[in-house]
Amino acid sequence: MAILRAPTPRAWVVAAAARLPELLVDHANCEKKAASSAMALIFAYPEDTPLVLALSRLAREELRHFEQVQRAMRELAIPIVRQRPGRYAHELRRALRTTHPERKLDLLLAAALIEARSAERFALLAGRLPPPLGALYTQLADSEARHFELYLDFARERAPLDWQARLAGLGAREAELATTPDTELRFHSGPPVH
Ligand SMILES: [Fe+2]
Ligand SMILES: [Fe+2]
Repeated sequence: MAILRAPTPRAWVVAAAARLPELLVDHANCEKKAASSAMALIFAYPEDTPLVLALSRLAREELRHFEQVQRAMRELAIPIVRQRPGRYAHELRRALRTTHPERKLDLLLAAALIEARSAERFALLAGRLPPPLGALYTQLADSEARHFELYLDFARERAPLDWQARLAGLGAREAELATTPDTELRFHSGPPVH
C-alpha cells in the first residue's frame, strides 16, 4: 500500500495466523468500527454531499464484511468473547487535531491509513489461512484497498495544499503503532510480546 511508511513485520503475520480466534474476534470488531467511523463522518459533515453518499455506501459494505466474518467464526466454532480494545486506533486518534477544519482532513487521512493497513494485512494473511478464510481475506484485501483510495481521494480534494505534509506526520505515527512490540495481538497491533 503506497501510503504506508513501514511494512507489517513478519512476526505479526506469524502470530496472527497462529492465533486465529483472537484475531477474528478483533477483526469482527474492526468491521463494525469501520462502519461506525464512516457514520460518524456522515454526521459530522452533512453538508459535504459527495462524501456523505460515498460513506453511506462504504458503511453498508463494512457491515456486510462484519456479517461475513461472523459467519466464518460460526463455521469455525470460534466463540464471540469480549476483548479489550488495542492501542492502535486509540493512539492514532490521539494524534488527530481537534480544531476545525483541520480535523476533517485528519479524520480522512487516518481512515485512509487504517484501510491501507487492513488491505496490506488481509493480503499477507490470505495465503496462510484455511480455504474459506483465505478466499474471504483475498476479497477483503481488494475491498479495503478501494476504501483506502476513496478516503485518500477525498483528503486530496478537500485539502489540496495540506494533505501531503499531514499524511507524512500521521503516517509516521501509524507505522510506529503497527510495527513496534505490542502488549496484545490485534488486527492492527504491532508484533505481540507474548
Ligand atoms: Fe471492511
Ligand atoms: Fe474498509
